[in-house]
Amino acid sequence: MMKASEKLSVWVTGATSGIGLALTQILSRQGYQVFISARNEKKLKQITTDVNNTIAIPFDIMREQDISTVKQHILRYTETLHQVFVNAGSCEYLNIDTPDWSMVKRITDINLIGAVNTVAVALPFLQKQVLKNQELHNQAAVINTQPQIIGISSLATLVPFSKAQAYGASKAGLNYFLQSLRMDLRAQNISVTTVLPGFVKTPLTDKNTFAMPFIMDAQVAAQRIVEGVRSQPRVFAFPKRLVWILCLFKVFPGMWEKLMSPTLKKSIQEQE
Ligand SMILES: NC(=O)c1ccc[n+]([C@@H]2O[C@H](COP(=O)([O-])OP(=O)(O)OC[C@H]3O[C@@H](n4cnc5c(N)ncnc54)[C@H](OP(=O)(O)O)[C@@H]3O)[C@@H](O)[C@H]2O)c1
Repeated sequence: MMKASEKLSVWVTGATSGIGLALTQILSRQGYQVFISARNEKKLKQITTDVNNTIAIPFDIMREQDISTVKQHILRYTETLHQVFVNAGSCEYLNIDTPDWSMVKRITDINLIGAVNTVAVALPFLQKQVLKNQELHNQAAVINTQPQIIGISSLATLVPFSKAQAYGASKAGLNYFLQSLRMDLRAQNISVTTVLPGFVKTPLTDKNTFAMPFIMDAQVAAQRIVEGVRSQPRVFAFPKRLVWILCLFKVFPGMWEKLMSPTLKKSIQEQE
């Protein structure tokens, strides 16, 4: 039986870089046992050396066939998870002049199906945490907040962005998946929060050549996420300045489209 003094376990996917790495460092400092996943085993191993309280669970989230192996791997250390940060993701842009349509499937497999596979691994551990919390509550030992699934989506889902067909659609699908999941897990006392970050400086955005207003450091973003999800909101979106601007344009979609569409002149120049 878990004692009130025992460490709570959390799982972060995409923990070898950017937001996931920063989340891992913060959660470790807060005293959690952090399970960390990504594909690159060498990087994972290095992080377990550099960051206290971390255990590497290599997982390519696209591989549904590995779900049971990953569950067994986590079970070697714990039966319960307090939180899962469904964070691993990728972004590629569509060039409409030479479209690589298969890229849309690739990005959807990572950002949407990968999130589904992650939840499939995590759910039994979160359910077990609910039972443990109930036991502790009955003993008046401790009252924990509900176990929680935290999905990292994007502010890009508020309005359409040029060239972002794959990324935007995969993240919009993720929003629906998470928000619908929240309804069905409510009765089980498991909460689900959809996080919509704006631009964060990471290897994912380092390749962008366009302006990224209000871009923030990964450590700052991860701290905002950890604090923002604490009250278990349905959606946590930040930075607020960008949220308000995008929400305004959501009400005037024609104006947004006019402002943000590549011009005909530009598109012809790019082809030359
Ligand atoms: N940066 C931003 O401005 C921004 C804004 C909004 C939302 N987000 C979202 O935040 C999340 C993290 O983004 P980031 O900017 O921190 O990106 P990042 O620095 O590129 O990190 C991506 C992480 O995901 C892992 N990953 C990628 N494909 C994977 C797969 N198939 N299986 C398992 N792990 C995989 C990578 O590790 P391996 O390559 O070793 O697998 C890496 O640890 C993403 O979901 C992204 O869409 C980012």
